[in-house]
Amino acid sequence: MSDNAKVRLGIIGLGAMGGHVLASARDHADITVTVAADLDPATVERHRATDPAVTYTTDPAQVVAADDIDALYIATPPAFHAELAVAALRRGIAVFCEKPLAVSEADGRAMLAAAEEAGVACAVNFALSDRAAVLEIERALAAGEAGEVLGVDVRLRFPRWPRAFQADARWLDGREQGGFVREVFSHFVYLTDRLLGPVEVVDAGLDYAEGASETAARGHLHAGGVPVHLSAFAGIAGRETYEWVLWGTRRSYTLDAWSRLLVSDGGDWTPVELTGPQGGEPSRLAAFARAVRGGPQVNLADFAAGFRVQRVIEAFHA
Ligand SMILES: NC(=O)c1ccc[n+]([C@@H]2O[C@H](COP(=O)([O-])OP(=O)(O)OC[C@H]3O[C@@H](n4cnc5c(N)ncnc54)[C@H](O)[C@@H]3O)[C@@H](O)[C@H]2O)c1
Repeated sequence: MSDNAKVRLGIIGLGAMGGHVLASARDHADITVTVAADLDPATVERHRATDPAVTYTTDPAQVVAADDIDALYIATPPAFHAELAVAALRRGIAVFCEKPLAVSEADGRAMLAAAEEAGVACAVNFALSDRAAVLEIERALAAGEAGEVLGVDVRLRFPRWPRAFQADARWLDGREQGGFVREVFSHFVYLTDRLLGPVEVVDAGLDYAEGASETAARGHLHAGGVPVHLSAFAGIAGRETYEWVLWGTRRSYTLDAWSRLLVSDGGDWTPVELTGPQGGEPSRLAAFARAVRGGPQVNLADFAAGFRVQRVIEAFHA
C-alpha cells in the first residue's frame, strides 16, 4: 500500500464496541470503513441510518471475503474472534481484534499461528496501549524514577455488571465468555505485562453468582518478579472503580479511571497534568493503519501479547 492511501477496513460485530469504532473511523484521515456485518438485522439497520456509505450484511463471511478490504476489525464476543481472524489472515488480510484475543487456548494458539504465517499487521485493541498516562509511567520507569518497584495493586469495583454501556451484551453476564476478569482485568494484565514483564499466576480465584459470571475475583500474580495483587467485586454499593497502583521505593503511581495519573513521593497523591494526545480509538486506528501500510507497530499490542494476557485471564477460570 502507498503511504498515504486510506486503509479499507471491514468490521464484524456492530454492538457497543463495533459501533464506537465505526463512529471513530468516520472522517478518519487513515481509515475508511467499506463493509460491515452483524448477525442482528436491527443492529445493521441502525448503523445503515448513521453511516450509509458502508455496505452492510448480516453474513460475517461476506466481510471476510470482500474484495474491498485491506484489514478487518473484529468486535464480536470473544468466542467468535478466532474463526473470523484466522479466515481473514489466510487471505492475507490484516486484523485488528478486540480483547480478549480468545477464550479457548486452542483458539488463541490458532490465531497466533495464523498471524505468524500471514506476516501482515495484527493487533489487539487494549484501551491502555496508547494512553498518555501509560506512556508517562513507561517513560518514568525507564528513567528509573520509581526506584525499585515493589508491587502492583489492581482494584476494580462494579456497582452493576454488565455496565450501562454494555447493558445489551448479555454474554458478558455468562460464564462461557463473560465476566469482568476477561472484560476489564485483561486491560490491566496487558498494562502490567507491558511495563513489568510477563505475568505469572501464583494464586487466583473467583466467586460466581448463581448461573452467571463472577461477583468477586482475587489474584496473586507476579510480573517480572514483582508481586501483583487483584481485588475486584461486582454488584456492590459503591463507585465504579478502576485503579492500578505501582508501588516504587522512590515514587509510586496511580492510574485511576483509565486516564488519570497521580504520583506520590511519600506524601499525598498529586495529579499529573498530561499534555498532548491522550490516546483512544481514533489514534489506535491511525497506529494500526501505519502498521498495515508496512510501518512499525507502535503502542498497539500484537497477538503474542494478546495471547499472554488471555492465558493469565483464563487461569482465573480454570
Ligand atoms: N477495547 C475496549 O475498550 C473494549 C470495550 C468494550 C468491549 N470490548 C470487546 O469488544 C468485543 C465486543 O464487545 P461489545 O461490548 O461490543 O459486545 P456487544 O454484545 O455490544 O456487541 C457484539 C455484537 O456482535 C454481534 N455478534 C455476535 N456474534 C457475532 C458473529 N459471530 N458474527 C457477527 N456478529 C456477531 C452481536 O449481534 C452484537 O451486535 C468483545 O471482545 C469485548 O470484550 C472492548
